[in-house]
Amino acid sequence: MSAGDGAQRPHRIAVIAGDGIGQEVMPAGIAAVDAVAEVHGLALEWHELGWGSDHYRAHGRMMPVDGIERLAEYDAVFLGAVGVPDIPDVETLWGLLIPIRRAFEQYINLRPVRTLPGIPSNVRSGHPIDLMIVRENNEGEYSEVGGRVYRGLPEEAAIQENVFTRRGVARAAQFALDLARTRSGRVTSATKSNGIVHTMPFWDEVVKDVFAGADATGSSTPIELRSELIDALAASLVLHPERYDVIVASNLFGDILSDLAGAVAGSIGAAPSANLNPERRHPSMFEPVHGSAPDIAGQGIANPIGQIWSGAMMLDALGHPAAARDLEAAFEGALAAGVSTRDLGGTASTQEFTAATVAQVRALADVSIG
Ligand code: NAI
Ligand code: MG
Repeated sequence: MSAGDGAQRPHRIAVIAGDGIGQEVMPAGIAAVDAVAEVHGLALEWHELGWGSDHYRAHGRMMPVDGIERLAEYDAVFLGAVGVPDIPDVETLWGLLIPIRRAFEQYINLRPVRTLPGIPSNVRSGHPIDLMIVRENNEGEYSEVGGRVYRGLPEEAAIQENVFTRRGVARAAQFALDLARTRSGRVTSATKSNGIVHTMPFWDEVVKDVFAGADATGSSTPIELRSELIDALAASLVLHPERYDVIVASNLFGDILSDLAGAVAGSIGAAPSANLNPERRHPSMFEPVHGSAPDIAGQGIANPIGQIWSGAMMLDALGHPAAARDLEAAFEGALAAGVSTRDLGGTASTQEFTAATVAQVRALADVSIG
């Protein structure tokens, strides 16, 4: 606990619980973050915005016209998940998530993956997994450039252009490099320069340039950059996940690899993410990797770890690393005590797991006081 934390003005956090299990894991995330905030004397204000598919049904938009301007007033955005079976995903994603990521230049999507206590990995390699996926979050394969022609005719065609800019690739590579300096120094860059002949060789070149520049500046941690083809990398991540530390990848590759790595580590329900604007000119957004999981929504069985861990990443980004570490230790403590949700092989409900995490937060505080 750092003295003076509580003296700051409250952090104002915009809450978008969204759809499906977003409505179930968000209260869990807030309860867990509130518990650790109380112990650390942090003041947080939660502002529920009620945007998402219900808003779309009522108003024809996922968020109000001035949604971005309103969000800009907050210190951070805490998001559950969006997406429902009866509205096309392109509306839910491009009407809320992607505009927020782009307007606020959240060009890094950071996704930690590690072995959790008491949770066997889904793969045979028994080695502990501890890696970070740095996904480029603003451009690449997720672009609006392209279109459909001859709609409805037999010759109908669709064209989707990828957009890779030197600035966009370089800043993702730089983030991965800076992160690697705080870890083992090993960075793997995901590529497909054998099949995608323009953008991927460009990605490789820019990443290499950034790392070459880094050598010149010197660093106490030796940096090792390796480029791996995405198909081989995907297989290797299943067979030898312990070999990876920092992985830097384009928007699409990073998206796929993080679901894969999350599942390898135990469950996608436990995977967190931070959409970061590293310069802090705009609010960053914190959300679990998983979606709205309509197949289990409403049953109270969703794993809240992805949301809670995202809350820890939010505390870290807001300048409270000790609180963030305590919150991670708390859900790990709950797991170590044998409490887990069904996706991890346990029987606990969302609420039971959350209560166990909150109890761990308090137990950790008692230990540090006593
Ligand atoms: P999903 O992540 O919602 O579900 C995939 C599988 O994982 C399902 O079997 C689900 O039950 C399970 N799962 C996910 N989270 C879980 C949790 N916390 N605890 C236990 N099990 C969990 O992905 P899916 O089914 O492809 O997409 C469903 C909807 O969510 C779609 O509308 C999609 O567009 C949207 N989506 C939204 C995202 C977001 O808001 N960032 C991200 C991914 C998908
Ligand atoms: Mg995804």
